[in-house]
Amino acid sequence: MSTSSFSCLLLRTLMTFFFLVPFTSSISFRFPSFDPNSTTLFYEGDASVFNGAIQMNDYEYFARNGRITYSHRVPIWDSATQRLTRLTDFTTHFVFSITTLGNPIYGHGLVFYRAAPDFDTPQNSNGGFLGMFNTTTLGTPSRNQIVTVEFDTYVNTPWDPPVPHTGICVNTLASVKYLPWNISLHNGFKANAWVDYSSS
Ligand SMILES: *[C@@H]1O[C@H](CO)[C@@H](O)[C@H](O)[C@H]1NC(C)=O
Ligand SMILES: *[C@@H]1O[C@H](CO)[C@@H](O)[C@H](O)[C@H]1NC(C)=O
Ligand SMILES: *[C@@H]1O[C@H](CO)[C@@H](O)[C@H](O)[C@H]1NC(C)=O
Repeated sequence: MSTSSFSCLLLRTLMTFFFLVPFTSSISFRFPSFDPNSTTLFYEGDASVFNGAIQMNDYEYFARNGRITYSHRVPIWDSATQRLTRLTDFTTHFVFSITTLGNPIYGHGLVFYRAAPDFDTPQNSNGGFLGMFNTTTLGTPSRNQIVTVEFDTYVNTPWDPPVPHTGICVNTLASVKYLPWNISLHNGFKANAWVDYSSS
């Protein structure tokens, strides 16, 4: 997961996370609270544990992002058969809260993503790039192998729809599907998100 904020924009995210691949030899993990010393998750950028939740970005500064990643590989591709494995199917549930801290201008958002194990937060990927892309990588979607579910509080033209939204994106920042989602109507509330995927 990744968040990003830019100048004048304040955003705070707290989260618990649950990921389950519901098949034989499945992988599942659950974090009812977070331990800063855990080796199961990598905390990067601003992401740090605060009262058992993860504070994704440091709202006292601008243009920041944070990222947490599961430290073990989750197999989705069977190289022997050259097919997606049954483990491709997954379900996740996570809880988060975003507050604008009363600021009239705020951003940018929270992203749940799946990518190759060597995917790093690109340089210059703050703000509307949501910590996932920069101008270079956004220009070559065919080279990206990233699926995201975004909770995007700020409209960035040209790629965003005309409203703050939650959307699904494949290899780029433009949503394949989206629904309007206005954080100012849910400011500081606890949000529950479920992301399920079926390969069949
Ligand atoms: C994490 O490890 C540090 C250093 O060993 C220790 O001081 C701290 O209490 C640990 N925190 C938790 C939540 O276990
Ligand atoms: C985008 O990120 C890649 C990987 O970190 C880097 O090589 C490239 O220089 C970055 N582009 C810009 C415009 O910062
Ligand atoms: C979001 O909701 C606020 C009210 O809290 C409203 O002022 C604003 O216009 C809404 N934004 C959109 C894009 O609908």
